Amino acid sequence: MKQGHFITMEGVDGSGKTTQLQLTARYLLDCGYDVVTTREPGGTKMAERIRSLVLDADAAINARTEVLLYLAARAEHVETVIKPALAAGKLVLCDRFADSTKVYQGFVRGIAKEKLDSLCDFAAENLVPELTIMLDAAPEALLQRRADRGVSDRFEQEGLDFQKKVREGFLMLASAEPNRIKRVNALQNVDAVQENIRKILKEAGF
Ligand code: TYD
Repeated sequence: MKQGHFITMEGVDGSGKTTQLQLTARYLLDCGYDVVTTREPGGTKMAERIRSLVLDADAAINARTEVLLYLAARAEHVETVIKPALAAGKLVLCDRFADSTKVYQGFVRGIAKEKLDSLCDFAAENLVPELTIMLDAAPEALLQRRADRGVSDRFEQEGLDFQKKVREGFLMLASAEPNRIKRVNALQNVDAVQENIRKILKEAGF
C-alpha cells in the first residue's frame, strides 16, 4: 500500500499561516508530492458549516459546546477527506488540527487535559501529524504589524492577553514534542519564513 503523509501548520492568529501554507503546498507539489491542502475547522461541506457556526463572532458559546463543534468538524474531516487521501498515498497539508484544540480549548479555555486528549483521539481516530510547523511570534509584535497594515479582525477582538496565552500554549506543546513540532519565527519576511519551512521539510526527509 502507498504511504501518505500528514503535515499540519499551526500558530497564533495573524501569523501569516495561510500565505505560508499556500507557498508550502506549491513547493511540495514541485517536489513531486500529490498534495491536498485543507483546513480546520472545515475541509468538508458539513465541517465548513460547523466552521461558520463556531467562528460566528456574534454568538456567545459555551466552552463545552465549542470544543464539541470543533471535534465534530474534525471527525467528519478525518473520515471523509484526510484518511482517504492518506490511503491513496497523498500528502495532506492541513491548516490547524488537534494542537489548536489543545491550545485554544484546553490551555486557554480550560478544558481538562486528560479529557481533551481523549476526546481529540476519539475525533481523529488517533491520527497524529508526522510533522507540524508552528509559526511563532510575540502577539504584541503581530498587533503592531497588523495595525501598520490597517488590518482589523478577530485577532484584535479577542485581545492581547488571549493571544499571549495562545502563544504560551503553542510553545508548551512544541517543547513537549520537539521531534514533531517545529517552531518558525513568523516575524521575518515572507521569503525568509518560507526558507525556514523548506529547511525543516528537507530535514524531515521531504
Ligand atoms: P483559522 O482559520 O486558522 O483562523 P485565521 O483565518 O484567523 O487564521 O482558525 C480559525 C480559528 O479557530 C482560530 O482562531 C483558532 C480556532 N480553533 C480553535 O479554537 N480550535 C480548534 O480546534 C481549531 C482547529 C481552531
